[in-house]
Amino acid sequence: MKNLKNKKILLIICGGVSAYKSLELIRLFKKKDAEIKTILTKNAKEFVTPLSVASLSQGKVYDDLFNVENESEMDHIALSRWADVIIVSPATANTISKLSQGSSEDLASTVILASNKPVFLVPAMNVRMWEHKSTRNNLVKLKSYGYKTIGPIIGEMACGEYGEGKMAEPTDILNEINIFLLSQSNNKKIKVLITAGPTNEYLDPVRFITNKSSGKQGYEIANSLLKRGFDTTLISGPTNLDVDNKINLIKVNTAEEMFKATQKNLPIDIAIFSAAVSDFKIIRKKENKIKKQENLTVNLEKNIDILNYVSNHNFMRPKLVIGFAAETQDLDRNAIMKLTNKNCDWIIANDVSKKDRGFNSDYNEVTIHYKDKKKTKEVLSFKKKSEISEEIVDRIVAQIN
Ligand SMILES: Cc1cc2nc3c(=O)[nH]c(=O)nc-3n(C[C@H](O)[C@H](O)[C@H](O)COP(=O)(O)O)c2cc1C
Repeated sequence: MKNLKNKKILLIICGGVSAYKSLELIRLFKKKDAEIKTILTKNAKEFVTPLSVASLSQGKVYDDLFNVENESEMDHIALSRWADVIIVSPATANTISKLSQGSSEDLASTVILASNKPVFLVPAMNVRMWEHKSTRNNLVKLKSYGYKTIGPIIGEMACGEYGEGKMAEPTDILNEINIFLLSQSNNKKIKVLITAGPTNEYLDPVRFITNKSSGKQGYEIANSLLKRGFDTTLISGPTNLDVDNKINLIKVNTAEEMFKATQKNLPIDIAIFSAAVSDFKIIRKKENKIKKQENLTVNLEKNIDILNYVSNHNFMRPKLVIGFAAETQDLDRNAIMKLTNKNCDWIIANDVSKKDRGFNSDYNEVTIHYKDKKKTKEVLSFKKKSEISEEIVDRIVAQIN
């Protein structure tokens, strides 16, 4: 985690029972040689002392007590400009509510409102508070402003109740911030190719075999890649989706066309195959529209395997090859088989048998299987495809740095 060295972390501690965990977070950041400044809300001081925070962070601790001598350092603008990243941990329901309203009634909320830096919220509260519609709505709003969240996790709370609302573990927070900071580094020259959507395999000029893929997950990944500065090429089967015009979009119909477009774009640094390419194509496509008849037999043959071609290329294999596995049964087993058989570095598996996720939905839940035996599989839990994409791209960035 060399990239945490000398990074400037502004940690805002709110008044929650898990505030003590932020002391451990400070210790972990210091071990990585990050610079830390802290703001304690008035209520946070009931849970942790400014003295313990100052001694662990070896940095300034700010609060709401205005002090004329410190005026320039207390400046909320200067503090927010100083930081590379702002972490609110724990983020109480109260502070989340204030932030969602654009409040600036104390130093913490003022710094955040005045900030142009990435803000991470680490919510921690009782399960009922977390599940309350008001908290949910506040978070939806904050996420739409670009605020990121880490946790909460499910577990036993200080109040004795069990459920979601427990603060994420300090080591996990550190990891998330590390991945994020890596993703901020300059990726401009890294070329990524991603395929998305279904393919159409024609029987005649007007009829074809296709599948239910909408292309949404692949398009979202392309958008996330572009945001991080990757040179992004999206080869897409037929979809109704739009994409940022800075993405090099190549529209195709058939697997054969997708293959040719992929070949033409080699070499690339990273390849992501999220398209649901038809496994079969029609042996002899009719030149004219087939006339109505009592029976019709259509003969199919195996289609070209684009993923296999690229991942086994003898001199143009990308540094990172990621395949997708859309499965309806034995998800893990089939994904691991595909990982090995297709010589991929990662397989991202999703269950396409459920109505609320996968094909055609805005939501997904995926499992990433890695070739690298040192890495264990990771489940990216049920959430919007746009959020899943961000998490996938975080991991891509971490891997290539
Ligand atoms: C003992 C105790 C524990 C608390 N723990 C939490 C908590 O874990 N999460 C939370 O959102 N609020 C918690 N609260 C409520 C907050 O302290 C309260 O909402 C406060 O106004 C938060 O202020 P701040 O957001 O400005 O730091 C707790 C209150 C008490 C008395």
